[in-house]
Amino acid sequence: MRALILTGVKQPLELMDRTPAELAPGEVIVELRIAALNRRDYWITQGMYPGIEPPVILGSDGAGVVAVCGEGVDSSWIGREVIINPGLNWGSNESAQADSFSILGLPRDGTFATHVSIPATQLHEKPGHLSWEEAAALPLAGVTAHRALFAQGGLRTGESVLITGIGGGVATMALQMAVASGADVWVTSSSLDKIERAKGIGAKGGFLYTENDWTKRFRGDAGAANLIVDSAGGAGYKSLIDVAAPGGRIVNYGATTGPPESIDLFKVFWKQLRLQGSTMGSPSDFTAMMKLVTHHKIRPLIDRVIPLEQGNEAVAMMKSSPQFGKIVLAIS
Ligand SMILES: NC(=O)c1ccc[n+]([C@@H]2O[C@H](COP(=O)([O-])OP(=O)(O)OC[C@H]3O[C@@H](n4cnc5c(N)ncnc54)[C@H](OP(=O)(O)O)[C@@H]3O)[C@@H](O)[C@H]2O)c1
Repeated sequence: MRALILTGVKQPLELMDRTPAELAPGEVIVELRIAALNRRDYWITQGMYPGIEPPVILGSDGAGVVAVCGEGVDSSWIGREVIINPGLNWGSNESAQADSFSILGLPRDGTFATHVSIPATQLHEKPGHLSWEEAAALPLAGVTAHRALFAQGGLRTGESVLITGIGGGVATMALQMAVASGADVWVTSSSLDKIERAKGIGAKGGFLYTENDWTKRFRGDAGAANLIVDSAGGAGYKSLIDVAAPGGRIVNYGATTGPPESIDLFKVFWKQLRLQGSTMGSPSDFTAMMKLVTHHKIRPLIDRVIPLEQGNEAVAMMKSSPQFGKIVLAIS
């Protein structure tokens, strides 16, 4: 098999031939068609992620065809078109993952390769309405967006939702899911063009988080947000507390710009806010996400398709976030 391998932090990934690891009982080998990038892959290449142990094949997202079944796996999987749930060993508690939880693509070899081995329990049938690119783009962003909106955010029809940094892969998925669920969705971005594109897929409107007075205009146009889904954190977090409706929820699944400088706890308790963390999702979140995507025929937005051989360019692109939706790698 061919794979893009991380041999050291802040080093280019190296495209190499590699002998596949021996297949464990209960596992399959998927011949990958497309892999997708997540910011996690970028953080790992920069050494900004715990537990980095090169050499490792990065990549949490992929779609392909089951090529080999290990001992104990129903051989009817062979030849089936699948996507992979990248969250391993969630455990039995729906509220939070177990200590043994891990994500495909570190420490376990991931999807930036022609083949990946994975427990068969992680496989899901590729939804028929999705292209290979869309299917590969779905898993990590899809389950993260779904858990943030529903299991953690408790989104109800007709509520007002604010999704920050709409260019992000998870954010665009959250926009599509929230619109499909009948919410009034507003967005923020650093780019007017991305705001216009978000409106094109159902957002009511958007605001430049780079402008200091965006919260004033948000209040004028949107009122207040019942649910805010954020992955930026940092200095902008205090604005989210300002625009949250009384009794509202702010769900964070990331902190791209670091921790908030300060949190006005007076506003938090007076407005009866809930500040909620969220990370990826349980197997049942994943199944619910697949059901929603299939029911509403949601198609993840693909920003661009880059050949596996140019994977370093794709990872480098994530530094400045030019994308609207997902960057995917074409493998075969
Ligand atoms: N906990 C989890 O399970 C989980 C899962 C997935 C991702 N994450 C984390 O969530 C974050 C986003 O991941 P992703 O894969 O969706 O990343 P991505 O596709 O690279 O998107 C990053 C986006 O962040 C937005 N952004 C940057 N600075 C911002 C700011 N100051 N305020 C608001 N938005 C800002 C930008 O939006 P604009 O371009 O619109 O300005 C950018 O497009 C990362 O920190 C990632 O590590 C966590």
